[in-house]
Order: sequence, then structure tokens, then C-alpha cells
Amino acid sequence: MMDVRGEPLLDIDDLRVQFQVGSGFGAKKVVKAVDGVSLSLHSGQTLGLVGESGCGKSTLLRALFGLSPVAGGKITVAGKDVTHAGRRERRMLSNHMQMVFQDPYSALDPRMTVHEIVAEPLRVAGRYNSREVEELLDRVGVSAEMSTRRPSEFSGGQRQRVGIARALALRPRVLILDEPVSALDVSIQAQVLNLLGDLQQEFGLAYLFVSHDLSVVRHIADEIAVMYLGRIVERGAADAVFRGPEHPYTRSLLASAPIADPTRSRQRPPRTLAGEPPDAANPPSGCAFRSRCPQAQDRCAEQLPQLRESDPGHSRACFFPEIPIRAAAS
Ligand SMILES: Nc1ncnc2c1ncn2[C@@H]1O[C@H](COP(=O)(O)OP(=O)(O)OP(=O)(O)O)[C@@H](O)[C@H]1O
Ligand code: SF4
Ligand SMILES: [Mg+2]
Repeated sequence: MMDVRGEPLLDIDDLRVQFQVGSGFGAKKVVKAVDGVSLSLHSGQTLGLVGESGCGKSTLLRALFGLSPVAGGKITVAGKDVTHAGRRERRMLSNHMQMVFQDPYSALDPRMTVHEIVAEPLRVAGRYNSREVEELLDRVGVSAEMSTRRPSEFSGGQRQRVGIARALALRPRVLILDEPVSALDVSIQAQVLNLLGDLQQEFGLAYLFVSHDLSVVRHIADEIAVMYLGRIVERGAADAVFRGPEHPYTRSLLASAPIADPTRSRQRPPRTLAGEPPDAANPPSGCAFRSRCPQAQDRCAEQLPQLRESDPGHSRACFFPEIPIRAAAS
């Protein structure tokens, strides 16, 4: 469900995150882990962020919570600039935006009961209500008799349900999900994705959903952003990007991972893309993808391609994009 009217719930504008790397007496280098990313997210919308390991997905998400060193740009949540928010503002922010992690076990305190885990954010906010916690657990499929148990007695899928209930306890409008189903079996993945879909409809939630698994993203996302070495290289409606990828990187990603529907069939493990991503501390000049790009030309080494729209809402950062032949309107 997509509702792109009105102000975005989350707006990221030209965000930059940098790390100093290298130790000892060697020269320090800078990794531009997020290098000028702009994205926005509206109520009821799911934006899928994809890209290979190390391209900066988690760093971008962590920046939204003040956990990555922001070197530039602006983050706006529900109309408020939170780029450099202090502790008090962060607490306010937790009413609007929450994170769901990949490994629910490490994110949940093993000594607490499941009821206590979901209650904790409400207690901190001074809004604890036992019935509300039980209703929320029931809503994500955890029955009342299970709520006195500890996470170690739960399966991976049940733990992720608890993680989702905890993230929803303060009734945020935005969930930031970093590989939320990657640690789960495929059949369980589908159940959790369906739950996320139902909750989105019910509460008008917006999801920023990171996954390296394109079949998961295809199942859940309205819009896709493809990231390569800190930059968004293609963005558009999920259908348009999956049907007509224009950036050579998106095309290779799709070609290297056969897309299965996670609700129906068992996925094959994705094959990796040819070649390795370059060293993030020493990327190629011009277009960072050129060392792996079958279409690279001289210009690609000299200039940095910017995101440009091909169709309304579909853009890619490439000098020589592959424009699919579209059926002529009859
Ligand atoms: N604390 C840090 N210090 C130095 N470099 C870091 C730090 N955190 C991340 N990086 C670097 O930033 C880049 C982006 O890493 P990030 O973890 O965001 O990638 P990712 O897309 O989430 O990868 P994955 O799919 O493996 O989770 C990588 O080059 C990584 O080595
Ligand atoms: S700008 Fe050049 S190197 Fe980069 S993706 Fe396009 S064709 Fe390939
Ligand atoms: Mg990550």
C-alpha cells in the first residue's frame, strides 16, 4: 500500500557518513560509507534498500539513530530536523521511529520475560499498561500463556515477532528494519513478512527495509533503492526496477540472484556477482562501479554520474544506462 501524499514521515537529504580507517603510523584513510544519499518515506510505504555487503546499508540506518558519525546532510523525522539530536530529542524520536534488528536473540535481553521485553519501552516512557502489552503480543501471534517465558524458549520466528512487538510498543509510525528475516528459515520468513504487511495496513506504518535478498525485497517493497559503495545508483517503483533495471549494477544484481517468491517456493541461494567490490577506502575515480561494469567507457573514469530520472519516479546514476524497450501504448 502506498500513500505518497503529504509530508514524508522520514526524509534523508544528501546524507554523508565517514569513518577514519588505518592505524599505527600509516596514513589515515577515509571511508565514505554513506556518500550523499537522499531518500524519503511516507505513511504506508515500504522502501527496500538493497546492495552487497559493505555498501553502507547498516551505516545509513544507524545514522538515523545517531549511531554513525554524520559528516553532512540532514535527517528529518515527522517534520523535525534530528540530524544532530541530543538525548532528550532522541527519546522523543523513539515515539516516531524504531529499529528492528536482524538477530532478534542478541537484541532481546535473555533474562527478561517476553512480557517484560515488550513492556520496557513503555515503562521508560512512563506509559506501562499490562493489557496493552498482552494485546500487542497477541497481535503479533504470541499467546498470553507464552508471554511469561524467556526468549531462549522461543524459536527464531517467534523471537522476531517479539522484536517487532517491542518496536511497536510506543506506537511509532516508522520502522527501520535491518535484514529482519535474514536469520530465519524461508517458510518462517514468509510468515514474518506477511505479519509485517498486515501491521503496515493496520497502523499505516512506513518501513525502510534493508535486505541483501532481492526476493524478500520484491515481496515487500513498493519502492527500491539500490546502493553501491555509499551511493544510491538506482531508485524507483519496485515493479519498474525489477522489470526494467537500468543501471548496470542493478542488472548484474538481478541476473546473479534468481528471484523466487518467498511465500511460494524454496529459494536457491543467490550466486555472487562477478568480481569483488573495490576497497571502500580507495574507490575507483568517477563511477565507483566502473571496475566491474561491462559498459564502462573513458568518461566513467573522469566524472561521477548523478542520479537522473528516466521515467517519472525512476532514476539511475549512469552515463550509459540500459533503457529497456517499452511496449508502445496502443
Ligand atoms: N565503525 C566503523 N569503522 C570503520 N569503518 C566502518 C565502520 N562501520 C562500517 N564501516 C565501513 O563502512 C562500510 C559500510 O559498512 P556497512 O556495515 O554499513 O555495510 P552493509 O551494507 O550494512 O553490509 P552488510 O550487508 O554486510 O551488513 C564498509 O566499508 C565498512 O567496512
Ligand atoms: S557510469 Fe559507466 S561505469 Fe558507471 S555504471 Fe554507467 S556505464 Fe558503468
Ligand atoms: Mg549491514
